[in-house]
Amino acid sequence: MRIVLGVSGGIAAYKAAELARQLVRNGHDITVVLTKGAEEFIRPLTFASLTGRKVITDIFSSASPDATLSSAVEHIGVAQEHDLLLVAPATADVIGKFAHGLAGDFLSTLYLAFPGPVVLAPAMNNRMWEHAAVVANVAALRARGHVIVEPGEGYLACGTIGPGRLAENDKIVAAVKEVFRPKVTDLAGETILITAGPTREPIDPVRYISNRSSGKMGYALAEAALERGARVLLVSGPVNLTPPSGAEVDNVQTSQQMRDAVFARLPDATVVIKCAAVADFRPSNPSAQKIKKTAARISLELDPAPDILSELGQKRNGFLLIGFAAETENLREYARKKLESKNCDMIVANLVGGDESGFESDVNQVLLVLRNGENIPVEKAPKRQIADRILDQIAKLSPR
Ligand code: PMT
Repeated sequence: MRIVLGVSGGIAAYKAAELARQLVRNGHDITVVLTKGAEEFIRPLTFASLTGRKVITDIFSSASPDATLSSAVEHIGVAQEHDLLLVAPATADVIGKFAHGLAGDFLSTLYLAFPGPVVLAPAMNNRMWEHAAVVANVAALRARGHVIVEPGEGYLACGTIGPGRLAENDKIVAAVKEVFRPKVTDLAGETILITAGPTREPIDPVRYISNRSSGKMGYALAEAALERGARVLLVSGPVNLTPPSGAEVDNVQTSQQMRDAVFARLPDATVVIKCAAVADFRPSNPSAQKIKKTAARISLELDPAPDILSELGQKRNGFLLIGFAAETENLREYARKKLESKNCDMIVANLVGGDESGFESDVNQVLLVLRNGENIPVEKAPKRQIADRILDQIAKLSPR
């Protein structure tokens, strides 16, 4: 594939050289565009040597009296000749220009003329990354369908610690690979009912019992299933995410509401994926009034919450049933027990409790435990990619 690698001006610009080398090694043709800022950190010659191609540094770089016209429209030609625009590192400046359609240099001009997919790997100081303006600009680019390779956390060049480090090259290369993966519609004809997020079990009108589920895994499944042609029914607990467009959404709060929404939707479903982190227990007698503060110890009596997956397992009538298992130990053994006791076709087991996978994180690492005795490990990857690996198995299990 032909990739434009845009490099903007940050300390991480030097890492783009190794990225260019990796992409060339993977068989891609790479044209590098350096912003003025990037040139302060790394020389064009480095990229020209690694890619074997001319490096573009200036909107008027090849302008000579007799070449004015071709140079003035060079960005159009470059836009038409390439399959992907990748910017790594993408500074706050580039992200802002792209978000607002400003076209003051070659890279931002190229962006406006670029008809293909765009992948951005941001890198900046953590305060900048968390600034409301950058957050809004990144959200705007995401809404436009661009892929954002989330920056990592750690020591930053400015001496602070936090999110803002350019993602590892392997992660950026994986995002590029994902863009080029042929799109399949192998789930067309399926109606997939997905539960996502936590439940909230009221203690009184202002307090509740809940858990750390962000809904990211379930929403990634919904997005991937839609892309693969399925109709998606999403029963969602309270989360801070925008549902993928095309999903039919029921918003619920409690385990009882989630159970009722699932069973109301069930007659349409050919596949059910129970990704939600449903409460196992709920307060026996939620108070109608706010419980007053007291110096004395108080105790909370809990009853079992409805076990939706178990009930689904007992009422199988043709739909595939996929459960999740969040475990802190003995992953394989506990997952296989759940597969049997809840009468599922597959359990997606994830080890939770660590820093970098399971709840809240953007990545996950799972073990797919199947009825035929197979256990398929899926390596750590963004939840969107994990979702596709889960759906690959579902497509194989589906009788259609
Ligand atoms: O939302 P994220 O932040 O992206 O995190 C993703 C996740 C960690 C929540 C997800 O990957 C996951 O593991 N979901 C299942 C969490 C869970 O409740 O696991 P469990 O082992 O306690 O439950 C086993 C299965 O029974 C699950 O399919 C669950 O939906 C279901 N269940 C559990 C309790 C209950 N009362 N009713 C249920 O249906």
